Amino acid sequence: MTQLTNSADVPDLGRRQFMNLLTFGTISGMVLGAAYPFIAYFVPPASGAAGGGATAKDAQGNDVKVSAFLAGKAKGDRELAQGLKGDPTYIVVADATIVNYGINAICTHLGCVVPWNKAENKFMCPCHGSQYDEAGKMVRGPAPKSLALAHATVTENDTVELTPWTETDFRTDEPAWWA
Ligand code: FES
Repeated sequence: MTQLTNSADVPDLGRRQFMNLLTFGTISGMVLGAAYPFIAYFVPPASGAAGGGATAKDAQGNDVKVSAFLAGKAKGDRELAQGLKGDPTYIVVADATIVNYGINAICTHLGCVVPWNKAENKFMCPCHGSQYDEAGKMVRGPAPKSLALAHATVTENDTVELTPWTETDFRTDEPAWWA
């Protein structure tokens, strides 16, 4: 009968645990390393804007260029862009520039995207009839709140920088409910 008599042939528990840890760490590192590009693919890239802001994008995902945006538009016209967190956000035309706030188009009732009705000078939700004035203030329910706002600034690159609006809602003189 053969017996293991040399204890050097049998790794003691400490050595085995160490070897297991080493193996686990190596495999984990390899798996995570291999998975990184896959995971990164699904994580949206940072907008490049500081302070939680975002550069407004058009439907194709290109930066909105203010000069092109304004071409052929009249004061009060508005158009949807991708805003903060990708939310559809109206950029509004002012005198030869844009209004300094964007209006989040997501209805505060159940989340439909609210179209602008130029003839009525209101945002009118097709889902359950909520209405908002030209600045996005709720004027008819069932929506419980006004549309959210974001600051909109024209950059030196002719793009629109949207940044979170955390101050008082100027339309209601109440705290910004979305902040
Ligand atoms: S989702 Fe707009 S009124 Fe219901």
